[in-house]
Amino acid sequence: MSKMMRAAAIDEFGPADVLRVRELPRPTISADEVLVQVMNAGVQVTDAAIRAGWAPPGATIEFPQILGNEFSGIIDQVGDEVRGFSPGDPVAGFNLLGCYAEYVAVPQAQIVAKPQAVSWQAAGALSASGQTAHTAFEDLAVGAGDVVLVHGAAGGVGTIFTQLAVRTGASVIGTASEANHGYLESLGATAVTYGPGQTDRIRDISPRVDVAFDAAGHENLRTAVELVADRGRIATIVDMPLAQELGCRIVRSRRSGRRLADLMGLLARGDLHVHVRDRYLLDQVADAHRDVESGHGRGKVVLDVRPAQ
Ligand SMILES: NC(=O)c1ccc[n+]([C@@H]2O[C@H](COP(=O)([O-])OP(=O)(O)OC[C@H]3O[C@@H](n4cnc5c(N)ncnc54)[C@H](OP(=O)(O)O)[C@@H]3O)[C@@H](O)[C@H]2O)c1
Repeated sequence: MSKMMRAAAIDEFGPADVLRVRELPRPTISADEVLVQVMNAGVQVTDAAIRAGWAPPGATIEFPQILGNEFSGIIDQVGDEVRGFSPGDPVAGFNLLGCYAEYVAVPQAQIVAKPQAVSWQAAGALSASGQTAHTAFEDLAVGAGDVVLVHGAAGGVGTIFTQLAVRTGASVIGTASEANHGYLESLGATAVTYGPGQTDRIRDISPRVDVAFDAAGHENLRTAVELVADRGRIATIVDMPLAQELGCRIVRSRRSGRRLADLMGLLARGDLHVHVRDRYLLDQVADAHRDVESGHGRGKVVLDVRPAQ
């Protein structure tokens, strides 16, 4: 008889209430996989989209479907072909689905070691937003001396992108609601309120803008094309149709163990921070989804799958 675990899953697509915590069988592992006892799982806007009916490329949704695509935890078992990891090792990683659970099975290629200096919450909330920001940063070839505009700079992805740009020597202008201006300044960016008149407010700070990254949507690409001459240096992760219309870049996260290890190294050295704005117990998963679906707020939302840490 299979061992059981607690997990947050859906039996149908719909609003946050369709997420329920129940007992499900623990996953079994194949030779190249590890079984991880999950400490924390990050909660994504993307998870909410899947819950509502969007199918992520490469994933098959099967009810009951456990959601969640990033985690931190402790290795419980390793497959026969796994090298370099052992039971008891602290790790962080990613999967398309299945991370809102006490146990997740993933290929070895999708985990990295979690250094002691990095908290379980930060490690569990690093992969999704971090790897998306890292991919965009790479595609836009941000360098020292660039003036970079970040739409939605205080959000999960914007927070990481802003820090990567600042530490490379770029000047960052980030848009956010006024409640997040102090937060953006603490990341080293100049904060601007989004909405009508934002193009002029940004020009007042810097008449020259070299790069724009849109992590917000809301037609912010139209502001970007007014300010940045080279459309190859304007990218969105949100508004794909408008990017096509305007000839801007579309970025889709290219996740890898190498990319996650790079980010984890920055975190361990104190060169990058994951801001956790709210933590929820696994039983409060529907509230966590409502939180990320608000479209506002700084940094990340995290589930404490294994509480009392
Ligand atoms: N393509 C990919 O591979 C990929 C991967 C991950 C995520 N995404 C998408 O990227 C988007 C951002 O994800 P996230 O996790 O960073 O979301 P998030 O944490 O909710 O952040 C969104 C930010 O947008 C800001 N915002 C809200 N309305 C705005 C407006 N009218 N103009 C400018 N900014 C506005 C908010 O700032 P305030 O709080 O200050 O209002 C908030 O901080 C989501 O749509 C997500 O689905 C795409």
